[in-house]
Amino acid sequence: MNAESQSLWMEQPLPPLATTGGRPDAAQVCVIGAGIAGVSIALRLAEAGRQVLLIDRDGLGAGETARTSAHLASALDDRYYRLEHWHGKDGAALAAQSHAAAVDLIEEWSRRYAIDCDFERIPGYLLPAPGADVQELEREYEAALRAGLDVTRLEAGLAALPAWGPVLRFAGQARFHPLKYLLGLYTAALAAGVRFMRAEAGDVEDGEQPRVLLADGGLIQAESVVVASNVPFHRRVALHTKQAAYRSYMLAGLIPAGRMPDALIWDTADPYRYLRLQPAGDGKDWLLIGGCDHKTGQAPARDPLEELREWAGEYCKELENIQYAWSGQIIEPVDGLAFIGRDPGARNVYVVSGDSGNGLTHATLAAPLITALIVDGEHPWAALYDPARKRLTGDWLEENANVALQYRDWLAAGDSNDVAALPPGQGAVIRHGLHRFALYRNEDGSLSALSARCPHLGCAVRWNALERSWDCPCHGSRFAAADGHVLNGPARSGLEPLAGERIDGVSSAA
Ligand SMILES: Cc1cc2nc3c(=O)[nH]c(=O)nc-3n(C[C@H](O)[C@H](O)[C@H](O)COP(=O)(O)OP(=O)(O)OC[C@H]3O[C@@H](n4cnc5c(N)ncnc54)[C@H](O)[C@@H]3O)c2cc1C
Ligand code: FES
Repeated sequence: MNAESQSLWMEQPLPPLATTGGRPDAAQVCVIGAGIAGVSIALRLAEAGRQVLLIDRDGLGAGETARTSAHLASALDDRYYRLEHWHGKDGAALAAQSHAAAVDLIEEWSRRYAIDCDFERIPGYLLPAPGADVQELEREYEAALRAGLDVTRLEAGLAALPAWGPVLRFAGQARFHPLKYLLGLYTAALAAGVRFMRAEAGDVEDGEQPRVLLADGGLIQAESVVVASNVPFHRRVALHTKQAAYRSYMLAGLIPAGRMPDALIWDTADPYRYLRLQPAGDGKDWLLIGGCDHKTGQAPARDPLEELREWAGEYCKELENIQYAWSGQIIEPVDGLAFIGRDPGARNVYVVSGDSGNGLTHATLAAPLITALIVDGEHPWAALYDPARKRLTGDWLEENANVALQYRDWLAAGDSNDVAALPPGQGAVIRHGLHRFALYRNEDGSLSALSARCPHLGCAVRWNALERSWDCPCHGSRFAAADGHVLNGPARSGLEPLAGERIDGVSSAA
């Protein structure tokens, strides 16, 4: 696997994001990011009569929407008993309602705009991991019932799966093909008058007339700006102390159709694992296996893909070759819910971030929520998802203590000092005096050398041997192995390259 791993969904061709109708420099609303969040918000705003310009640096569906596992769930990953603890019983119930409304909206849009995206209502099953505390399942059952979910307890487990005890069944969940859906939304948005432009936003200035400053020196003037870039790039700190970046992994292989239940299946392990099916035709289904998340830049000892393979084998012996293995980035908010709404302290700027493992429904519910805030100034979900909310949860303290610890890398030894032994396709951080350098051996044997200093807030990046990238353990920025360009924000610029003579100096002194 490498940093550009291909997902099953990427078989779906997407149009290049051509600039439609000349290069615009103004719009009523400028939306940044053409993933499911940005395109859903743009479509909803256009339906409400707003004139919208949507820009993206890399094209339609170029981000995490192409790397998802596409569970559409109101049975949220973070558990309802925890949501009750963070947001109260009413908050947990509102979270359930808003995610169910998001699944309904995806179904409604698929129907209204004739989007053929394999949308299907299916049940979800939460299984206890072997040796798990069954009390957790009981707590979740009670809390999910209070939040209004249609949940039942199946004492005998689930037929066709190893019976490890009672499981919870959630009705009314769904699945779809994320890029077929995104393409349908894009087509509907174009027809509704949304203009699209391929451009990188370098910064956003708030105000009565906020402006998007483009990386190529251009400028877009708007009445409102929506930052739907998955991770905000325009603020260095604000939301980054309230969310943490995780890497997540997926495999897909063919199995005979009908061998596994057509359902969303996930377990109570920490980190958790999940299974689902996607129709493949010719009497086959794709079995998708995912999970084994870990903090970005803080890889576990065991290869997550190996662990997923082993876990899937326990459920389905007939899994043929694994044809796809990919990874992606999930941004976990410290209190289980995304940050959607007014950008704290910035006039007429709105933001969507902290997607978590329920990012597709968070992104979708952002469409009516942000549209209502722009058009009417209020929405019943606004307080629950308010990006300005402050909750000093145990998770908040833990995540920020973890970030602080990562800065000690500056004092630690490098990965290696034997630059000559670095094999092609691998990288290592080398300590040289007070500096740390990120050295990568290209396939042709030449050496690329970059500063190991993350341009976001100065942590030292680490080599990710599995995905072949430089990953920042602080807020999850990721950089390409050879030239250091940004793969994932919040960093706005890549790792600084070293000039040729400095490379010689580092490699001979190391
Ligand atoms: C492995 C994995 C499994 C997942 N499984 C699920 C699941 O089962 N269910 C679920 O609900 N969610 C799931 N998620 C989460 C979900 O996929 C994401 O939350 C969602 O796709 C994010 O959509 P987005 O539009 O916010 O971001 P993206 O799809 O990342 O789109 C952001 C866009 O912004 C653009 N951009 C960034 N910076 C700039 C800039 N400066 N200027 C211009 N453009 C910019 C990027 O090019 C990109 O196209 C999963 C995620 C992963 C990685
Ligand atoms: S991502 Fe914040 S310091 Fe690197």
